[in-house]
Amino acid sequence: MSPATAPRRALLLENIHSDAVAGLEKNGYAVETVAGALDEDELIARIRGVELLGIRSKTNVTDAVLAAAPDLLAVGAFCIGTNQIDVTSASTRGVAVFNAPFSNTRSVVELVIAEIIALTRRLVDKNTGMHAGVWDKSAEGSHEVRGRRLGIIGYGNIGSQLSVLAENLGMSVFFYDTADKLALGNARRCSSIEELLATVDVVTLHVDGRPGNSGMFGEAEFARMRPGSLFLNLSRGFVVDHQALRRHIESGHLAGAAVDVFPTEPKARGDEFVSELRGLPNVIITPHIGGSTEEAQQDIGQFVAGKLHDFVSTGNTSLSVNLPPVSLTSQNGVHRLTHLHRNTPGVLATINSVLADHEVNIEGQLLGTRGDLGYVITDIGSQYTQDVIGQLRDLPTTVRLRLLS
Ligand SMILES: NC(=O)c1ccc[n+]([C@@H]2O[C@H](COP(=O)([O-])OP(=O)(O)OC[C@H]3O[C@@H](n4cnc5c(N)ncnc54)[C@H](O)[C@@H]3O)[C@@H](O)[C@H]2O)c1
Repeated sequence: MSPATAPRRALLLENIHSDAVAGLEKNGYAVETVAGALDEDELIARIRGVELLGIRSKTNVTDAVLAAAPDLLAVGAFCIGTNQIDVTSASTRGVAVFNAPFSNTRSVVELVIAEIIALTRRLVDKNTGMHAGVWDKSAEGSHEVRGRRLGIIGYGNIGSQLSVLAENLGMSVFFYDTADKLALGNARRCSSIEELLATVDVVTLHVDGRPGNSGMFGEAEFARMRPGSLFLNLSRGFVVDHQALRRHIESGHLAGAAVDVFPTEPKARGDEFVSELRGLPNVIITPHIGGSTEEAQQDIGQFVAGKLHDFVSTGNTSLSVNLPPVSLTSQNGVHRLTHLHRNTPGVLATINSVLADHEVNIEGQLLGTRGDLGYVITDIGSQYTQDVIGQLRDLPTTVRLRLLS
């Protein structure tokens, strides 16, 4: 097979869902899979010629890896976080990075709902008692969730979905968000955390991991919660003071809690879990599994594989973690060129004057910028000549030029 007709190569590590493999193969990629993570040297040894790299959280895509991958077009993080990727180096080299920011949000919401019901019925204590042989048949302290007031702090992807499902269960929903957010259904916005804490029976945190949120929920906030209310955190571990939470559970001020995320978490499956929250009554603690379902893994596989293929075939970068977001609808019969460049004044004018000098008519064009980078997709009606390509590639601002058709 000649290099011109050889299929594009994709390397997927860390047991990425089979739907991602199937999706890429359907679109003509030759997909190699590796069950585990690769260390830097192993990855460097395998990456030459690879155009798409798929990883999860355990493979580090370092500057050295990217330097050894001249053919690499995009990295897909088949997970939420992208800390394991040197995103700055990827941007400098014109490599797009994609992740799956929304794929597991429904899984988190369902766990929150399950935990609110379990805590409100005191299922945890009943279950523990039964396993210890105690038949505690009583309604004391057990409630329906219908009619109870839920307070959501952080009304983003997860908080807003939770709002809809909780209303369907008959809960009254209140929320507080630092950004302006549209209230869904009958949910009511609170103008401060204090107002929310004084109003609701259940408080659940769904804020993001910005540094300012470190320790945002501590002694003062727990003290403001209504007596007998419940607390849940499935967002980030470092936002909550767990010692304060323990005190408020032990004093009986709070009726229960569910926590899925911790300031420090064990590195590997099977490692000991150390926390102030162990051994407390009506407290559910789970090992950061809010988003861990087979459905979420499948969705992540399909979503990221789709983003990678879309970027390769159309140049569109919407939802890329690092490149400017540009999405231009494809038309039939046009030839597409993408140009990633350093974001300095006049680049677009220079590109267009190169095209005009060669009497190339632009059928469609879209520019986006993000920090130091600019990205322009240009469609023309005739083939790009080698002269045009050469001149654009040689511009001092060019980071990467691609001809898609
Ligand atoms: N437990 C898990 O397994 C799991 C899985 C997925 C996501 N998460 C975490 O859940 C959280 C929410 O995820 P998302 O996708 O909904 O995020 P998102 O970015 O869509 O929403 C976060 C919202 O919180 C708001 N916010 C930030 N700081 C705030 C503050 N101090 N007070 C009030 N509002 C504040 C933001 O304005 C935003 O609307 C994130 O921290 C994410 O990492 C956990």
